[in-house]
Amino acid sequence: MTCGFPSVQSSFASGTVPATSVIGLQWGDEAKGKVVDLLTEHHDIVIRYQGGNNAGHTVRFDGRTYKLSLLPTGILNARVKSVLAPGVVVNPLVLFQELDRMISGGQDCEDRLLVSDRAHVICPWHMLEEAAFEKSRGGEAIGTTMRGIGTCYRDKVGRFHAIRIADLVQRDVFAARVREIVPVKQKLLDALDPEGTRLNADQIIDEYSVAADRLRPMVADTTAWLLDALDRGKRLLFEGAQGSLLDIDHGTFPYVTSSSSSGCGLHSGSGVPARAIEKMIGVAKAYTTRVGGGPFPTELPDATGERIRRAGNEYGTVTGRPRRCGWLDAVATRYGARLSGVDSIVVSLLDVLSGFDELQICEAYEINGTTTRDFPSRCQDLAAARPSFVRLPGWTEDITGITQFHDLPEAAQNYVRTVARLTGRPVELVSVGPDRGQTIVMPER
Ligand code: GDP
Ligand code: IMO
Ligand code: MG
Repeated sequence: MTCGFPSVQSSFASGTVPATSVIGLQWGDEAKGKVVDLLTEHHDIVIRYQGGNNAGHTVRFDGRTYKLSLLPTGILNARVKSVLAPGVVVNPLVLFQELDRMISGGQDCEDRLLVSDRAHVICPWHMLEEAAFEKSRGGEAIGTTMRGIGTCYRDKVGRFHAIRIADLVQRDVFAARVREIVPVKQKLLDALDPEGTRLNADQIIDEYSVAADRLRPMVADTTAWLLDALDRGKRLLFEGAQGSLLDIDHGTFPYVTSSSSSGCGLHSGSGVPARAIEKMIGVAKAYTTRVGGGPFPTELPDATGERIRRAGNEYGTVTGRPRRCGWLDAVATRYGARLSGVDSIVVSLLDVLSGFDELQICEAYEINGTTTRDFPSRCQDLAAARPSFVRLPGWTEDITGITQFHDLPEAAQNYVRTVARLTGRPVELVSVGPDRGQTIVMPER
């Protein structure tokens, strides 16, 4: 099927879209996987450039559901190459578990994947350190996915204890690095938790070397490869993970992930220059969710929030944790859209809002007596923010079978137009169900 995105397609027709990106505008789980899947057929290469197996991207078509975590969503398309670029952190054991799941599900996809030799390797101590640090924060835990993401990025930036894919695939180099790093990590782990696990260097070397042997044929200088692909006119699709509000620099620090998960991370994470990106698409849920800790001004810790959670099946794809649910926060989403420089917005999971008498969208915050539409830089200010809501009429109809915007109930059309107005970006697509076909292309403006 064609996915629509009229402006994208017309740009394709004129051959002017070398690269498109899909970015989450909230705190993750906005349905980026569905949107990337829809766009994949118009591209040749799908690239993950930040994060790792903290992501959980769900795609549904032909009656089947696929859950991707570390693998780019493009892996589901036999025509397309998928790339894990330098900015991704890779747990090689998890990579092969995921690939094996794909293969046993009938997707013979191993030869469609390239992994950057510059990407960093998540090792067992990263998960252990993270668990110990999170425990030590008590009630102020970040609520991470416990996948060793932040601790791996910390070692990358720190450099002394980092291991890259290029090191992993040279057995001697890898073994020497592990033997050098393990004693230091053991001291740290013992200090954090004297009763904790003992690292076994030999075992780690053996396990990771098996994965390394299988990984070797997929390893490449993906930066040079992608730049060459651009020169040859290949069409690139960048798959953001997490969301703009979880960005390490621009998100709700410290309740963020450890990578640049807004549009800002695309160029550094992939090596593809900013000016190659022709189209930035932001994905926003019709309401707001968040997993883990941190302030959330429009959260509904009540029966309404529970109703949204049930209707939207809002449980984490990676950890199974219930997602916190609340009304759409247009202040936060507008910030995400501006920060990531998106051209247009996909409004997803609109169907989940069917059946409410009244809906609310936050259009401003009141922080310490001042009304603002600006998203605060300090978590403490966000925690103090009192949302000011626009109230909108709801609709009762089931909209999951609707494919034309003008067939939506008037109240649902009004809701989508209000999202566009309050976020300052045109809505290009509305998603009314998890399946590929449950997608409404907005009429040309
Ligand atoms: P991602 O991390 O941004 O790719 O999003 P997730 O896959 O973690 O979460 C989105 C969830 O919503 C998945 O279970 C999707 O199958 C589902 N989904 C996507 N679009 C829609 C939609 O329009 N309506 C409903 N009800 N579910 C959707
Ligand atoms: P996708 O790509 C939602 C959240 C975690 C935690 C914080 C830090 O599916 O949208 P980390 O393990 O990254 O150090 O955790 O970030 N988080 C996500 N929330 N969707 C995600 O990915 C997430 N990846 C990380 O819950 O609050
Ligand atoms: Mg997700």
